[in-house]
Amino acid sequence: MSTPSPAPAAAGIELRGVSKRYGDSPSTPLAVRDVSFEIAPGTLTTLLGPSGCGKTTTLRMIAGLEQPSAGSIWIGGRDVTLLGPAERNVSMVFQSYALFPHMDVLANVAYGLEVSGVAKAEARERARAAMANVGLEGYDARLPSELSGGQQQRVALARALVLEPAVLLFDEPLSNLDARLRRSMREEIRALQQRLGLTVAYVTHDQGEALAVSDRIIVMDRGEIAQTGTPDELYERPASEFVAGFMGEAMLFDATLRADGGVQLGPLLVASVAPPSAAGAGQALKVAVRPEAWRIVAAGEGELAAIVQKAAYLGSTREYTFETALGPIFVVAAEAARTLQPGELAGLRLAGHGVAIVPAGDRGSAPR
Ligand SMILES: Nc1ncnc2c1ncn2[C@@H]1O[C@H](COP(=O)(O)OP(=O)(O)O)[C@@H](O)[C@H]1O
Ligand SMILES: [Mg+2]
Repeated sequence: MSTPSPAPAAAGIELRGVSKRYGDSPSTPLAVRDVSFEIAPGTLTTLLGPSGCGKTTTLRMIAGLEQPSAGSIWIGGRDVTLLGPAERNVSMVFQSYALFPHMDVLANVAYGLEVSGVAKAEARERARAAMANVGLEGYDARLPSELSGGQQQRVALARALVLEPAVLLFDEPLSNLDARLRRSMREEIRALQQRLGLTVAYVTHDQGEALAVSDRIIVMDRGEIAQTGTPDELYERPASEFVAGFMGEAMLFDATLRADGGVQLGPLLVASVAPPSAAGAGQALKVAVRPEAWRIVAAGEGELAAIVQKAAYLGSTREYTFETALGPIFVVAAEAARTLQPGELAGLRLAGHGVAIVPAGDRGSAPR
């Protein structure tokens, strides 16, 4: 116990059939419904979804701050379902950093060790090591009120790290920071997680943040898992309208499955992606297209005819809105010799990426 260990022993997390209902009334809807997933040791998995979908509830059940109504929770191969928070070797970083305002940074970081019986000198030595991990060397004597938002976030992080938890939980840790700081802090959290080999469950409603930090993403919708996968899989192959819409900007178009197996989108044949295997001829489908998945070509046979409605040059990309038979279409174009002018005729074709076919009739991302 005398030398600070830089790398906590990471443990995996597993949820098996976990449901949660707040209160005793059976008429209250489940906040979390039959959720099962695994987070491998040393990896970062994000729970992503709109407000109220059950992310915090799931995280709090992993932490032991809420009891599941059904199912079991395993950490490091041990069933911890009935254990309290202190018996799980788990640390949580909250959106509100909850620092002690009257204690300096060193005392804030060392606090958790001291209350668990570690001698003061050792606790402070280990606190300094945790502070070094998050770039807070030399800030020992500052009060939280003398720190920027980003620095306060680092203190919260150091305070969680110093306990050398087997798993680290983050609940929207960056939402109190401005956009630029959010971006750099999320990179730091990811770098730290990889450097120390931490097992992390990370909650956010921000898909950009999820794509940037995660090994795997679990998209939640109304208490249930909508889809699980790597950032790439979820972005390129969303399994539903909800996931397609939530994972980034995408326009959804009605399409039909032809007898020859092709997917017809207006005048276009969607060639780059296969329709769901269960789909039958004539079935209505939806095609989700990212703004960067359109290729602008000269107007002609087989293309979707388009008239430039709006054009904007943004340095490295150009943004267009086209009028088409499918309605207005927003396009982000990376390579083009010149900017098309409003009123010009062009054609649109689909690229090989950024296009996904999802079953129609599935609901969209209605906020609740
Ligand atoms: N302590 C609580 N008591 C009763 N209902 C709650 C409580 N906490 C959350 N809920 C409800 O559970 C659902 C999921 O909430 P939450 O897990 O906080 O979602 P998220 O973190 O994704 O925004 C919501 O309908 C919310 O109102
Ligand atoms: Mg929440």
